[in-house]
Amino acid sequence: MQSQQNKGKFIVLEGIDGSGISTQILELKRILESEYDLQTILTKEPSTGPVGVIIRQVLSGRLSGLEDSCLALLFAADRVDHNRNVIIPALQQGKHVICDRYLWSSLAYQGRKEDTEWLEEINKYAYKPDLTFFIRVRPEISLKRITSSRLSTEIFEELNILRQVYNNYIKIFKKWQDLGEQVIEIDGELSPEAVTAEIKKELQNYFLAENKKTN
Ligand code: TYD
Repeated sequence: MQSQQNKGKFIVLEGIDGSGISTQILELKRILESEYDLQTILTKEPSTGPVGVIIRQVLSGRLSGLEDSCLALLFAADRVDHNRNVIIPALQQGKHVICDRYLWSSLAYQGRKEDTEWLEEINKYAYKPDLTFFIRVRPEISLKRITSSRLSTEIFEELNILRQVYNNYIKIFKKWQDLGEQVIEIDGELSPEAVTAEIKKELQNYFLAENKKTN
């Protein structure tokens, strides 16, 4: 992965389906803007770009017959497009980019079928996040949340799949934390308000540590 020397911070939220990322990402945006007076943009992967549109059709089952390795390549291609057209320009303008899922999702989801080294290789040009929050929710709990709140489900929303993805996330984050990456685990089984409070506390610690580094 490449690292960047931009002013804005690149913050990613990760977790298995039903872990509440979409709710918490809005809270994170609110905190950064109202409490830190920062300019932010919200974005997500799969992105809304041309490759992201194809991926969404695969996820919903409207486009079928694609091999798992092809889907992994599509996610990697979408990420390059997303980096070049959305993330990097915003960071260069000093904006803080908050992204719903990123590279870690490829390692956790596509890592069920594909080799980790290959996934890291095809994603090697992905810009490195400054900070990642992993919203940890056990698969049994997340699936209950999904089935009680939605009419339709996507291809990865099954218990045994979510279990594999969950275990992959735990392994991946342990590895990246050992490599010195800023990955912060949050207990996502708490109430939504308590999860937000945890994120807020960790964000404060992160900015304090960053200020110490620059002073
Ligand atoms: P999700 O983030 O829930 O988006 P939406 O709320 O719009 O449905 O769904 C995206 C799905 O894509 C989710 O199951 C995780 C999966 N995914 C991957 O398998 N690999 C990736 O690299 C990314 C970014 C997502």
